[in-house]
Order: sequence, then structure tokens, then C-alpha cells
Amino acid sequence: MKIGTPKEVFEGEARVAMTPDSALQLQKLGHECVLESGAGLAAGFPDAAYEAAGVEIVKTGAALFKGSDVVAKVRPPNDTEVKRLQDGQTLISFFYPAANEELMQKAAEKGTTVIAMDMVPRISRAQKMDALSSMANIAGYRAVIEAGNNFGRFFTGQVTAAGKVPPAKVLVVGAGVAGLAAIGTATSLGAITYAFDVRPEVAEQIESMGAEFVFLDFEENQQDGAATGGYAAPSSPEFREKQLEKFRELAPEVDIVITTALIPNRDAPVLWTADMVEMMKPGSVIVDLAAERGGNCELTKPEEKIVTDNGVTIVGYTDFPSRMAAQSSSLYATNIRHMMTDLTPEKDGVVDHNMEDDVIRGATVTHEKAVTFPPPPPKVQAIAAQPKKEAPKELTPEEKRAKELEEFKAQTKSQVTLLAVGGALILLAGLYAPASFMQHFIVFVLAVFVGFQVIWGVAHSLHTPLMAITNGISSIIIVGALMQVGSGGFLVVLLAALSVFMAGINIFGGFAVTRRMLAMFQKS
Ligand code: NAI
Repeated sequence: MKIGTPKEVFEGEARVAMTPDSALQLQKLGHECVLESGAGLAAGFPDAAYEAAGVEIVKTGAALFKGSDVVAKVRPPNDTEVKRLQDGQTLISFFYPAANEELMQKAAEKGTTVIAMDMVPRISRAQKMDALSSMANIAGYRAVIEAGNNFGRFFTGQVTAAGKVPPAKVLVVGAGVAGLAAIGTATSLGAITYAFDVRPEVAEQIESMGAEFVFLDFEENQQDGAATGGYAAPSSPEFREKQLEKFRELAPEVDIVITTALIPNRDAPVLWTADMVEMMKPGSVIVDLAAERGGNCELTKPEEKIVTDNGVTIVGYTDFPSRMAAQSSSLYATNIRHMMTDLTPEKDGVVDHNMEDDVIRGATVTHEKAVTFPPPPPKVQAIAAQPKKEAPKELTPEEKRAKELEEFKAQTKSQVTLLAVGGALILLAGLYAPASFMQHFIVFVLAVFVGFQVIWGVAHSLHTPLMAITNGISSIIIVGALMQVGSGGFLVVLLAALSVFMAGINIFGGFAVTRRMLAMFQKS
């Protein structure tokens, strides 16, 4: 089939939905690629690069829509583009169906299948198609760079001959995809970074990135992102008050605030109020990533950068990914390519729109002349979802004692049976085997028993040192086997050689595993 990418018509949009690299991959799926002339220019991909990758270039957007079976673009289509859609065609783009009902209706009437990249469910298998996350990741990174550009000081602290520079203090509000990217960037630039989120389960992630999680002194059955598909649920008014109180405490201290707090399909909650802005030091910077949905900062002006009377810069741009168009185009084009891979299971250039597939169903908002939004919840749990453990029932002391006694009895019974069977087997062997064999055999059985009991009790975290000990034991086995290998009989030589071989596997396997584990901690 022909996959076509037009030039984005939204003013200032520099991204493109197909790159020369993604075009090569799409062709491997059996598709042909078409591009409107100049579509990739603003992202740094000239027509010639596409032609070299085997892409056909057409002159106009109208011709592109007419000649493509699948149209892949970035922004939702505008009215002119919707008019160009055809029956049986597939459109893949950001669509925001909840906010674009009329557009969705028109596309359905035309008979176009619309796949909204913003509707890809957040399940593990769909991560490679999760365009919202890939764009939010870029936005988080860029927010820190933008803050640095407007901040008159270093991020990292320095002691120089000309004086001491304190490190910048950064607060990230909302530790979703964009927030975590911002935390990673700010800490790597050397800033002291604090982060807050209503989902307590992200505290560990925040701390593992070198930032400090801002805990609230508040008892609430806090939102469990798992229950809401990896997203947060709205917090109670009391919780919000406590949160604002904490932020007021932090406001005079922090130099840079990056806000990313959002709950899907709602306006952004106001979390950084005008009085907090007033408390901040002159020269401080706020980057409000939620500007598109009204902003987390009360004074944010969407699309604009303003400086308040007390010298605080507030950046409300809503096009951060487009400001890094080369990077965002390659990630977005890769997301689209993965979507096409799922739509072309046979790799034969034929699109199979399987509405039974969770990801395809979730993202499809119009299909066969009908609006198919909202989708049913995915059959697979969200990434963050983990089965809830049931709280153990409180037992009375008598019940506890009775339970322990029962467990002890069951354990003793199985151990006695095991010992009796083992003893009987050894007696049986003793009736026939020579005395010298029995002596070694009993030592061997006891060694196995003691070894098993010891190793079984070792905590998982100590398995690496345990491996070192088994390596040591293996070398003793090798020494013993080497002493026996030249001592005559065929059976002895065979057993000794076998021991050397197996102990060798243990030793070299141990080295290989250790090497791989060490590699995980090395920066590439
Ligand atoms: P996400 O859903 O992964 O993260 C949002 C986070 O905010 C979640 O961790 C959630 O728990 C948290 N949150 C919600 N309510 C909160 C509250 N009251 N207090 C503290 N935390 C709260 O979303 P993602 O993908 O990280 O996007 C974040 C924001 O960035 C969104 O507003 C999105 O529209 C915006 N964005 C902006 C771009 C731009 O160019 N300005 C580009 C891409 C994304």
C-alpha cells in the first residue's frame, strides 16, 4: 500500500511523520512511501534524502492525499485536509478525539479509518507506539534546556578563583513521562532537584534518578495510578491544600520550577499560585508544560514567555517537541512505523485492521463509517498495574498459636517421612554395597542435605556472593578430579573428566554472568 506524508499545515509545526530512515523500514513491510515536497525540510530532512531512501515525492498536499492509501501526519487534520480524506483510506495522526468530535464525525462519514496516536493505550506491548510518551520525553528535556536559557546562573555548583557558585535548585511538579525526563536532565546538569507527584509509587523512580521526593505530611489513601491505567486520579481538596502549603514553603528556595501535572481529559490543576510566584527570587524561571490545558501556574500565558514584576520568567510554550523537530520527528516516525508493523502482520504490504487487537482497537476512533471512540478498556492491565495484595487478616493470639502448631505438625510429619524413606534406602544399599562405598556414600548424602539446607535459606540479594562460593567449591572439585584422572580404571577417568567438565561450566558460567551483571552498571 502507499503510505503518504504531507507537509504539516499548522503554523510553526516543524515535525514530519516520516523520515528517510522510517521510510526504509516501511518499505521492508512491503509498502511504498510518498512525501509532499518539502515536508521534512523544517526538521532537517531535504527531499533528496527521501529520494535516496526510495520515497516518491509529489508536489502538492492534494495530490498526496489523493494517491495514498494511508496518510501519516503529526497534527490533527484541519478542515481542508478532512475534505481531502477518502473512503477506505486510513489516517494516522494525533487526533485528540474528545476535543475534536466534529472532525471525527466528518472523517467517519467520509469512510476514513482514523488511528489517533494519542489514544494508543499505555500497556507494555504498545510502548513502542506511544507517541505521547516520546513527545513528552522530549518536552521534559527541552523544558530544562529552556529554563537554563532563561536562567542567569549555572545549574551545577562551582568553586572558582572568582568565587563560589551555589547549585541551582529545581522543583519538578508531576513525575510522569515529561517530569521524569526533566528530572533526569536537571540532575545530570548538576542541579539539586526536588520532585512531587500525587502518585506515591513514583517516589522510588524519582530517588533512583538522584532527585529528592517531596513527601507530604498527609494521610490519604493516595491515588493508585495502577487503577487508572497508569494515570493519576484527582486529589481531594484537603490534599491539595496540604500540597499548596508545601509548595509555599519551597517557593522562596527554588530557582527553577517545571510543572507537568496533568490528569487526562481535564484542565490542568492550578498548583503554582500567584503568591508563590511573588515569593520566588528575581531571576527564577517557571516552565509550564501544562500550558496547553490552561497551565499549572496561575500566571502562565499559553504560547508566551512573560516576565513578572518581581523578575520571574514564566515560559508557557506549547510546542517544545516541534522546537526539537529532528529528534521528535525521528521518534514519532518510529512510533508510526511500529504502528504500521502491527497493521501489516504478514509484512506483505497489506493492511489488516484487526479490531480484536487491544492497541489497534484503542487507537482507532473511526472505522467503517462509524465513530468507534471511546474504546472499551484494554483487556491487558496498564503498565503500572500490579495485582493488589490482600491485607492479611488480623489473628487473635490463640488463633496464631493454633496456626503455628498446625504448621509445625505438618512440617515435622513431612520431614519424618523423608528421613524414614532415606534411612530405609541407605539400609538397603548397606546390605549389598561394600563398607568403603557406604562410608563415602553417607558423607555424600549428608553433604547434599546440609548444602541444600544452607543454600535454600540464602536471600536473593546474596546470590552473587553465593556464586563466588560455588566457584570456590568447583575449583576444589577440579583439583580432586585432576588427582584422580591419571589413577587407572576407565570409569574413574570418565567420572573425573566429567567432573572437570561440569565444574568448568560452573566456573566459566559464573564469570560470564558476573561480566554481564557488571556491564549493566557501566555507562556505554
Ligand atoms: P503524564 O500523565 O505521564 O504525567 C502527568 C503527571 O502529573 C502524572 O505523574 C500525575 O500523577 C501527575 N499529577 C497529576 N495531578 C497532579 C497534582 N495535582 N500534583 C502533582 N502531580 C500531579 O503526562 P506527560 O506525558 O508526562 O505530560 C505532562 C504534561 O506535559 C502534559 O500536560 C502534556 O500535555 C504536556 N506536554 C507539553 C508539551 C509542550 O510542548 N508544552 C509537549 C508534550 C507534553
